[in-house]
Amino acid sequence: MTLNQPIGVFDSGIGGLSILKALRAELPHESFVYIADSGNAPYGEKGDAFVIERSRALTRTLLDDHNVKALVVACNTATAAAAKLIRAEFPDLPLVGVEPALKPAVQLSKTRNIGVMATRGTLESAKFAALIASLKASLTDPVDFIIQPCDGLAAAIETQNTPKIIALLAKYTPAIGEFGTKSGQIDTLVLGCTHYPFISHLLRVHTGAAVHYIDTGEPVARQTRRLLEAAGTLNTSPALGGLKLFTTGDLGGFAELTKLWLNLPENAEISKI
Ligand code: DGL
Repeated sequence: MTLNQPIGVFDSGIGGLSILKALRAELPHESFVYIADSGNAPYGEKGDAFVIERSRALTRTLLDDHNVKALVVACNTATAAAAKLIRAEFPDLPLVGVEPALKPAVQLSKTRNIGVMATRGTLESAKFAALIASLKASLTDPVDFIIQPCDGLAAAIETQNTPKIIALLAKYTPAIGEFGTKSGQIDTLVLGCTHYPFISHLLRVHTGAAVHYIDTGEPVARQTRRLLEAAGTLNTSPALGGLKLFTTGDLGGFAELTKLWLNLPENAEISKI
């Protein structure tokens, strides 16, 4: 691996752009290749076999066609289903996955009631069960996690279907419970799917302004830096890194969103694969 090779990032679709944004802020001299697998989204309700097959294929594309030096799986669902297998299959490739940020939520919550929104795939995974069990076992001051699978929400965000997003939030947020900072209320909400940070303004209507939202962009970016430093492949050149974005879905919509959500460098390339 050399310093100038890019870092590969993939998600089932546009959600991982929330992670890519944090990566580019933390590592401005690195080049990134991002694949949005929008042609196969959503992953969250499709089962492990499908998600594993797609995760393997995208990792191969990033390695074979783009020679990436590290991989960020910018998708909670794919991390839960496939990160372990990818690590075993590509042992020389440094890999950072994302998982619902329960620990930072525990540190922040005063009411000790924490909501967790994610896909069914993430919440029903063995990885999530292990995460929650080990965290609970380590706590002296117990917390309640209120877990909400949000079927259809990532798909509605993926297709930018605002009426559907609004309708789903109106269904899921009351099911989580009462939000607020008083005793017994949920004061912290974990956004356990990388698509959800893009609809935080719509979520606010239900939770109010005081509730903390926890997403994983910044910790994932810091962890990526640590891995590159440990591997001796952190890019130390003063030049800004490049950006290549690919989608397996509709190119026009993807190009528009990336322009809206990322501060794209002039040399950014956006294509369909
Ligand atoms: N953005 C993804 C996640 O973090 C996946 C959403 C989906 O495709 O269901 O889980």
